[in-house]
Amino acid sequence: MKPPVIPLLLGILLLAPALAVSELPHLRKEGTATQLIVDNRPCLVRGGELGNSSGEPEFLRPSWSKLQKMNLNTVVAPVAWDVIEPAEGTYDFATVDGLIADARACEMRLVLLWFGSWKNSMSCYAPSWVKRDLTRFPRAQDSVGRNQEILSPFSTTNRDTDARAFAALMHHLKATDPAHTVIMVQVENEIGMIPEARDHRPEAEKAYGAAVPSTLIDYLTKNRAQLAPELLAVWTAAGGKTSGSWSEVFGATPAGEEIFMAWYFGIYTQAVAAAGKAVLPLPMYANAALIRPGYQPGQYPSAGPLPHLIDIWRAAAPALDFLSPDIYFQNFSYWAQLYTRSGNPLFIPEAMRSPEASVNALFAFGALDAMGFCPFAIESNTEPAAGFLTESFDLVRQLTPLLVEKQGRGLTAGFLQESAESKQPQQVRLGGWTFRVAFERAAPPQLADGLAVIIGTENTALSASGRAGAAPAGGLVIALGEDEFLFAGIGLTITFAPAVGGETAGLLTVEEGRFTDGQWQHLRWLNGDQTHQGRHVRLEPGRFSLQRVKLYRY
Ligand code: DGJ
Repeated sequence: MKPPVIPLLLGILLLAPALAVSELPHLRKEGTATQLIVDNRPCLVRGGELGNSSGEPEFLRPSWSKLQKMNLNTVVAPVAWDVIEPAEGTYDFATVDGLIADARACEMRLVLLWFGSWKNSMSCYAPSWVKRDLTRFPRAQDSVGRNQEILSPFSTTNRDTDARAFAALMHHLKATDPAHTVIMVQVENEIGMIPEARDHRPEAEKAYGAAVPSTLIDYLTKNRAQLAPELLAVWTAAGGKTSGSWSEVFGATPAGEEIFMAWYFGIYTQAVAAAGKAVLPLPMYANAALIRPGYQPGQYPSAGPLPHLIDIWRAAAPALDFLSPDIYFQNFSYWAQLYTRSGNPLFIPEAMRSPEASVNALFAFGALDAMGFCPFAIESNTEPAAGFLTESFDLVRQLTPLLVEKQGRGLTAGFLQESAESKQPQQVRLGGWTFRVAFERAAPPQLADGLAVIIGTENTALSASGRAGAAPAGGLVIALGEDEFLFAGIGLTITFAPAVGGETAGLLTVEEGRFTDGQWQHLRWLNGDQTHQGRHVRLEPGRFSLQRVKLYRY
């Protein structure tokens, strides 16, 4: 039977405005990359995380223009459980509303951090009615039975009370943020057990003596070939059993205890995330405080979503879309790379605020298909770090359409000098070419005022002074075609060779420019001394630049 024409037309007309509304932010796989889709377009988060106590709207208001000038498109901001639920079941979302309104006015987005049961291991953001009631809201205990200021993950009351508050937050976002100013949510913050590897309260002891759940065993067995090598080593050393208690399967060691604890933190976080997603399924993740070398479980915040525990967390918390590192160490590429294991999308919600942050960002986007990069306490960013970040985020902004088109297809790469002392050049292969990249750090060149304005944004020109000696070195490259590449970065000298065959690489053209509204704008041809008479491409030390290079063989 044919549908009646008038109701059908009416239906289409009624639906039309709804179809025009932006989709909910979500993740989408593109090649080997995972992209964050916001307003129907892939988004690279040029972010900054606020200091823990800097997110209240009145306090933050004077900083928004500074954050905009740093070329941020996203602010990563905490939401504190004790603030939004001051009395049980009574919610106050004024701070969230203020943040959203101010972000929207600045045309910026937010990633919200749920400081719920745990923040840097501790439960300091739990409301006072939770903190004071140790019977109803039990704490983790050490091996001699002392309560810690850490809510026990072995309590369903703790879990359900947190999940209820988190779901209320997501309800509020659903009702008040139809434009999706909030694009993602972090569930808890740097979960971890300390000062011992696991909780010893009676419920925890009972769980430790019980059988390892079959869900976990099945996951590990099915994904055995891709497991983190550290996890596989612990499991194998204990005999590789597929049934038994936790100490039987993973060994009665701190490493085995950490795996047990990671599972229980993971299933608790799963319940919180799932309660939120049932209301508003924004992308969600959990973050980890990384480990200093030489520490044993219990000596560092243990059992969080650390690289060696990624598989446990994935099995326990499928509602989390990915796991993230907070990278404060100098060996940035090592830690960032670990968070691309087994297809985990890379989003760095916290990073050290330093001149290096600017090049770490380019490396993450170019080499590791990152979705976002966010230095911590961004509102306090000062020169010279602020100037460098402003320039590199300007490049990321210009290159976003190209980067998101090429990510996940082997058409981008990154280069990074992680310390001024590491003199080793890096070798990268892209398509038919091998690049050898040497690094050079220096004070910025003294630019004539006019030139500074032409080569960069107004921010670039303003920040090009006062940072002698601090300049980092690093960047990224995008393949535009077989023999054509875009280099973005600072302090790089690149020489080229065909990846196969005995021919020599020559520079056909080298051009400095920038993208304005997606269009390439020529600034100047680079030749003569600037390319060492055709021998190399050089992105000067001390200032970020963008160069388009065509190669040939002879
Ligand atoms: C990592 C935490 O996640 C942040 O909230 C903050 O405490 C920083 N460390 C401080 O460096």
